[in-house]
Formats: sequence, structure tokens, C-alpha cells
Amino acid sequence: MSLVEIHGISKSYGTVQVLKDVSLDIAKGEVVAVIGRSGSGKSTMLRCINGLEPIQAGSISVDGVKVNDPRTNLRKLRQEVGIVFQSFNLFPHLSVSDNITLAPRVVKKQAPDAAREVAREVLRRVGLEEKLDAFPSQLSGGQQQRVAIARSLAMRPKVMLFDEVTSALDPELTGEVLKVLESVAKEGMTMILVTHEMGFARRFGSRVVFMHEGRIHEEGQAAAVLAEPKTPELQTFLSAVLH
Ligand SMILES: Nc1ncnc2c1ncn2[C@@H]1O[C@H](COP(=O)(O)OP(=O)(O)OP(=O)(O)O)[C@@H](O)[C@H]1O
Ligand SMILES: [Mg+2]
Repeated sequence: MSLVEIHGISKSYGTVQVLKDVSLDIAKGEVVAVIGRSGSGKSTMLRCINGLEPIQAGSISVDGVKVNDPRTNLRKLRQEVGIVFQSFNLFPHLSVSDNITLAPRVVKKQAPDAAREVAREVLRRVGLEEKLDAFPSQLSGGQQQRVAIARSLAMRPKVMLFDEVTSALDPELTGEVLKVLESVAKEGMTMILVTHEMGFARRFGSRVVFMHEGRIHEEGQAAAVLAEPKTPELQTFLSAVLH
């Protein structure tokens, strides 16, 4: 059984169908890079996986739990499916520690001391242990994004979704966030990331999925797909982003 199983899903907003019969199986520990033009449905697919968006057809399951079953406890599911967005979404009035421990304390009922220990550990993993008591405004964009990743790690998710987490950053801050993603991937985390960083996709994606007009248009082993795209649509896309 794959950790994430997406079978024939369709998703519409009103009369506009934005996902068309999308199927994708992701094994534990896989790092899947999702690429494609603006509006091709990448973010929508991620949002469907953790139940932020309902689907009209098909099914999605995460570790055997059906996302689109009305009996599924979505709050519990979202503890297991972390999602990090382009904008860091840290609470500005809370310290780094409180940003990270809020959900473990409230949702997982962790004791404050235990939650703070977890915060310290996940901050260490993103290289920011010394920022435990800082406030978001005292951090650079790259550091804020690393805290957002740490906050997601603190929930001990089974799979993590990343939606263009470096797109809002200056180029010199992108590298430090990619480095964190790389180390999370090396720890064995199952990851699905929407990215424009083709170099990163090539090096750390076990697989690349190219979305085009709401469908998975081409997919395969990362280095092979990027080096030898088969469809004209992917060829066009790659030559636009690589040049
Ligand atoms: N809440 C919404 N209501 C209506 N239409 C939406 C909504 N969210 C997305 N769409 C539409 O669905 C399509 C897919 O959007 P999506 O955000 O998934 O694309 P994307 O591939 O992530 O694009 P980008 O690279 O610009 O982030 C687009 O045509 C978009 O306009
Ligand atoms: Mg998007």
C-alpha cells in the first residue's frame, strides 16, 4: 500500500474543472516534485490531499485513511499531513516557541515542558535553536520559513506538503530553505512539493510530476523526466523556466 493514494480525482470550482482524473501513488519516503504552469492545478491538488478542498469524484487516502469520507476526522488527518505555504503564516504576536508549541499543546494536549522540548528539537533540525524566544518580526524571511517548516515538523506528520515555499524569498534566502528541505528529505520524510526550483527537483525529487491543464501530463524519475521530456508541453515549460 502506498502512503498517499490518489485515484481518479476531479475537482471543480463552480463550472470550472481544475483537476481532471488525477491519479498518483506515493510511497513512504518518496520526494515528489510537482511542476507546471500557473493555474495548472498544483496548489489545488495539495489542498485536496489534506482535505482543505472537497473533491467531486475519485478518492484520496493517506496511510489508509480516506480523506473524502464524511466519517473521517479531518482534524486528525491534518495532524498527519503537514502543509507549508509560500507565505510563512506565523502568528506575529507569538514567539517562535509559542508558534511551534501551539498546535501540539492544543491539539495533541502535550504538556508545556514537553512541547517546548519538541520545539527545541525541531528548531535544531532547521538550524535555528537559538531563535526559540525570538519573535517573527526579528527574523529574516528565510528564517521565518524555516520556523514554519519546524512548526509543521513538530506535529510529527507522516507526509509533508510544500507549496512553493521559496517563491516569496529573495534568491539569497532561498538556498537556506532548500537546505532544510533537503535534510528533511534525507531523514526519510515523505514529501510532495510544488516547486519552481528545477535543480532541487532534479537532485532530491525521486519523482517529478508535471501538471498541465488539471491533469498529470507527464511523470517519471526526476532526472530522466527533466533531462528528456517527452511531451511538447513539458518541453515548452522547461525551456521557459530554465532559460
Ligand atoms: N478558490 C477558488 N475558486 C475558484 N477558482 C479557483 C480557486 N482556487 C483556484 N482556482 C482556479 O483553479 C485553477 C488551478 O489553480 P491552482 O491554484 O491550483 O493553480 P497552480 O498550479 O497552483 O498555479 P500557481 O503556479 O499560479 O500557484 C486556476 O484556474 C484557478 O484560477
Ligand atoms: Mg499554486
